This record gives sequence, structure tokens and C-alpha cells, in this order.
Amino acid sequence: MTREEANRPHDSAGASTSSADGGKSLLRFISCGSVDDGKSTLIGRLLYECGALFDDQMDTLAADSRKVGTRAGEIDYALLLDGLAAEREQGITIDVAYRYFSTPARKFIVADTPGHEQYTRNMVTAASNAELAMILVDARRGVSVQTRRHAYLTALLGIRHYVLAVSKMDLVDYDHAVFDRIVAEFSEYAAGLGALHISAIPLSGTAGDNIVEWSPRTPWFRGKPLLATLEAAPSTTLDSGLPLRMPVQWVCRPDQNFRGFAGTLVSGTARVGDRVRVQPSGRTSTIARIVTFDGDLDSAPTQSAVTLTLADEIDIGRGDVICAADAPALTGRQFEATVVWMHDAPLLRGREYLVKLAAQTATATLSPIKYRIDVNTLEHQPAEELGLNEIGVVELELDRVVAFEPYADNRDLGGFIVIDRLTDHTVGAGMLHFALRRSDNLHWQPIDVDRHALAALKRQRPCVVWFTGLSGAGKSTIANIVQKQLHALGRHTYLLDGDNVRLGINKDLGFSDADRVENIRRVAEVAKLMTDAGLIVLTAFISPFESERAMARALFADGEFIEVHVDTPLAVAEGRDVKGLYRKARSGTLVNFTGIDSPYEAPQHPELRVDTTTLDADHAANRIVEYLQEQGRLAF
Ligand code: ADX
Repeated sequence: MTREEANRPHDSAGASTSSADGGKSLLRFISCGSVDDGKSTLIGRLLYECGALFDDQMDTLAADSRKVGTRAGEIDYALLLDGLAAEREQGITIDVAYRYFSTPARKFIVADTPGHEQYTRNMVTAASNAELAMILVDARRGVSVQTRRHAYLTALLGIRHYVLAVSKMDLVDYDHAVFDRIVAEFSEYAAGLGALHISAIPLSGTAGDNIVEWSPRTPWFRGKPLLATLEAAPSTTLDSGLPLRMPVQWVCRPDQNFRGFAGTLVSGTARVGDRVRVQPSGRTSTIARIVTFDGDLDSAPTQSAVTLTLADEIDIGRGDVICAADAPALTGRQFEATVVWMHDAPLLRGREYLVKLAAQTATATLSPIKYRIDVNTLEHQPAEELGLNEIGVVELELDRVVAFEPYADNRDLGGFIVIDRLTDHTVGAGMLHFALRRSDNLHWQPIDVDRHALAALKRQRPCVVWFTGLSGAGKSTIANIVQKQLHALGRHTYLLDGDNVRLGINKDLGFSDADRVENIRRVAEVAKLMTDAGLIVLTAFISPFESERAMARALFADGEFIEVHVDTPLAVAEGRDVKGLYRKARSGTLVNFTGIDSPYEAPQHPELRVDTTTLDADHAANRIVEYLQEQGRLAF
């Protein structure tokens, strides 16, 4: 095959399972293992045997094999994959390399993911749309922690069919006992992961045993070779009569007369005249047209990308899910879910993140963390946070109701990603188990004497002056003077101070990152209630994280949240050391101390910054009161 003849991997990666190509079914699988396990050689060999290589790749492979001489003039298949890996490093393919090959019986897309723990993200991406996982185990080394991790993650992502490829059998003299031992150990572990179907195969990538042909060197092996096993594996993504689900990617409104909803049918088929229910709103209508680039259709199969128009003018936005009317997706706001954390900064209970589920985006907290899972032993451990590559079960709470299905029933409507609100990075991925019904019966109660009425009586405009800065920066001192000045001006105020609040309502919290997040969350909510009561609220907390200050700010209307950075250099605050805490922190008797062994993220755009090295507390307070006056916060 020449490169001109085919540009397979990309064209095919999005192909549907039952595409027209000779009626052959498609199997997507993921290969897990490291290069050391013989993965490169094995996949290289598969591609070679199936004629999936380009002519120039074949020539290069033969030349490289001669040059490198690792296999005494024979072809070294690993060089091929190493060559492709180099392509990957040049950015030709990102994250996961998808390779296409086919046999007369079937088409395959193999997602080749790097094996190490730091590549969890890639593995999750690849596994979430694979139907089978091939797990490689080096016969000499046996089942490793990494093998368990691969099995755990792929099972978590919904894979039920496995090929346990015990590689390098030539290096253990095709010893039946070695093979049996590995299969037994793997099966025992896999038994804890649910009902999995496992085909174990003794292989050698270099000698070619049991890859395409059954090998006489393993006379004790009664199973099928690798390729035949892959050809026979069931395809679970075939449309198996599931009801219609189409997450709306965008609303298409070119003119007054046309209003279409574009998206991919993640399950089911759509037919003109079908009754549909739009979740989460529950409104119903009928499919009027199915519009595509090639003209209208009467019906569209699963996985097709279409634009639907409906018979009724109902309110539908991006993210809504068009469902079969008699079998709609579920709706919920709080869930139990498993989360795989993929970021250096840990998942903190109480912190707000963005969650993207199908085409819906919502603000979310992922807490409490019910437990962390030890992937090696499958034990549940108590946890306050989840670190990089850790997996845990959490309660996910969204700021609004969404359409969903348990991941086990529908990967597209049950799988979500977690995004950091400030950096926009994907920091986790998760799978919904079920909805919790806790707040379903809670409704916001309108109160007649509302915040405007309460503020009017005090003849003031409530707001929050949010002081942030290191311990000993001068927050409490300055806030105290500001409060005295406002009091003298006849303003009704309240000062929430870190130490005081921690002696009362927050006495259950310490100084871990997770506790600080919760401290600030509660303080922000209390400050919000106090502004509802008509007060001007001053808060003096270190509030070290940008994320929680953003969360606090988001609770208030524009102009109502005034962030004041009391900007005192660490050396100066430490020099003052009024409470003697810096000394304790330096001597190691006080841990997690801000600025010493716990971070402080300075605000990028505070409303005010006061530099206490050039401005004393009284002048700093004057500056703040002036600011409130300039902004009209003290007029009524
Ligand atoms: S915050 O980080 O959660 O915003 P907060 O402002 O409530 O902290 O409390 C900080 C006060 O607690 C400090 O001024 C100091 O008096 C006291 N403190 C005790 N231990 C620590 C610590 N490890 N880190 C910071 N402050 C501490």
C-alpha cells in the first residue's frame, strides 16, 4: 500500500461500527502495556502481517532492521512502532496513536497508549471508546502493579472483553506452567472487577507465535491465536436497540424560518414523525425533518451527525438531550460517581470545578470524597483529596439539573470530564453511577422582606470587602479600622475574622488545602447571607487560593465584591510575627503554614492592593473607605 492509496487512520477513526466498507464490522481496541512488555513488537507484527503498512514504511523497516542488527538480519518489528512513536513526538498524532488495519473478516482500530502511570489521561481517552482491551504481560515478569492498573482502568471505563497477551513466551521456553500462573493471577484480580470475558494467549512477537497462526511450540494451548481472537470478539457498540439520544451540540438558526438542532445520535435511530422528549426540561415534540449536507433523510442511524427540526417551537439550548419520548434519559443534579484524577494539583473536596457531560457544562463540587480505591488491592481508603492518577468515589453536585444515564448504560451520557475553572485544563474524568435525590425536594422559598427591603431600612448598599493576604499581613488590623470608620459614618457592618470564625462555626476545620477550601466556602456563604440581611461585610481570611476567591466573588452581583489584597512580603510578615507562628512553622512544630509549606496565590486583579510597607494601617483603611465612597457604595 502506498501513502497515496490510503490515509487510513484518520479517515477511519470516526467510522461507524456498521459502515459500508464491505459490510465488515469494526472493532476498536486498546493495547495496554509498556514497550518493555513487547508491545511495540507485537503491534508492529500485527500491522505487518495484515498488510497495514505503507510501502515506504516497509522499506525503512527492512533497512533499519539491517542497520540496527538487533535481529540478525531479520525484521525487528519494534523499530516500526518506535518510528511511529517518533512521528507522534513530532506532533503528527496527539496523545493516543490510533492505528488502522484490516483482515478479510474485519476492520480494526487499535489505540496504542503509552503504558506509564503518567499517561493515565491518554489511556482513559482511548479506553472510553474501545470495546476490547489487550493487556500485555511479559512472561518473565508476570502480573505487575501496572497490569492491575490497566485492567482496573479499562474495566472502569466499561470494557468487558479482554485479551491477556502473555508475551515473550520464547524467553521462558514456552513453559505451560508460567503461562498458567500468570493467567490464574490475572483472573483472580479481574474477578474483583465484575463479569469480564478474558481470552488468554501465550505469544511471542519476535518469533511470531500465536499471532496469526497457532504455534506448535505451545502444543498445550487450546485457544485461538491473537488475530482470530480479535476477529471473533463481539462488537458491543453495534446499535442494539437502544432508545434515541442526541445531545444538542449547537442550535442552528440561519434565518427566522429555520431552527435546527445539530448533534450526533449517540444511541438509537431518528425517524421523521418520531415523538421526542427533550431532557432535562421534559418538553415533548415530534421530529419534523432530519437535515444533512446531502439532503433530508427519513431516518438516521446511530452515530450519524444530523440536524433535527421539531414540529413545535420549544425552548432547546446547547447541551439539551433529544430523547425517545417513551424512554427518555434520566435527569439529576447530585450523583455518586467515580473520578480518575489527572492533575498535579489534587482534587479538593468543596472546590468548584466545571463538569462537562455530553454537551452540557455545569459548575460542580465533587465532595465528599467517599473513598479512594487502591488499584492494586481494590481496597477502599478514606480520603480528603485525590492526587494525580488516583481514583475515588465522590458525590458530585452540580449547580443545575442535567440529563444523564449511568455510565454502565450509556458511555456518552454517563461519562464526564472535570475542568479547572481558572486554567481551563482537563483535570479529571469520571463516570456517573446514579443520581442522589437529596435536594430534589428543596425549593428556594421567596421571602417578602427581601434583601432590598432590609438594605433600604438601613439606608445602605450592602457589599463585601474581602481582605486576603498572608498571616500577619495586617488584614485584621486594617479591617478593624475600616469597620470603625464605617461605624462612625452610621453604616451597619459586620467583620468576619479568620481566627474568630475558626473558634466557632469552623472549629472542625484545620489547615489542610481541603479544609481551607471548606473554610472559605462557608465564609463566603455566610457573607452572602449577611449582605442579604443588608449589612456591609468585611472578611479577613488568608484565603490563599484563587479558585475559592473566584467562587466567593461569583456569589455576588457586579460591584458587590471588593477584593483587597493586603500585600505584605513574606519577609516583612515573618519579621513582625505577632503571634509567633512563623517561628513555630520554621522550627517545624507548625505544619502547613501559609508562605512556608503551604501556598499563597496572590490575586491577579484585586479591586485594591494595599502595600503595608509604604502605607500604615490607618492610611490603608482610609484608602479603602475612599474607594467605597468613589464607587458609590456608601451612598444610598
Ligand atoms: S485560611 O487559609 O483558611 O483562609 P484563615 O484566615 O481562616 O486561613 O486562618 C488563618 C489564621 O489561623 C492565621 O492568621 C493564624 O493565626 C492561624 N493559623 C494557625 N495555623 C495556621 C497555618 N498552618 N497556616 C495559616 N494560618 C494558621
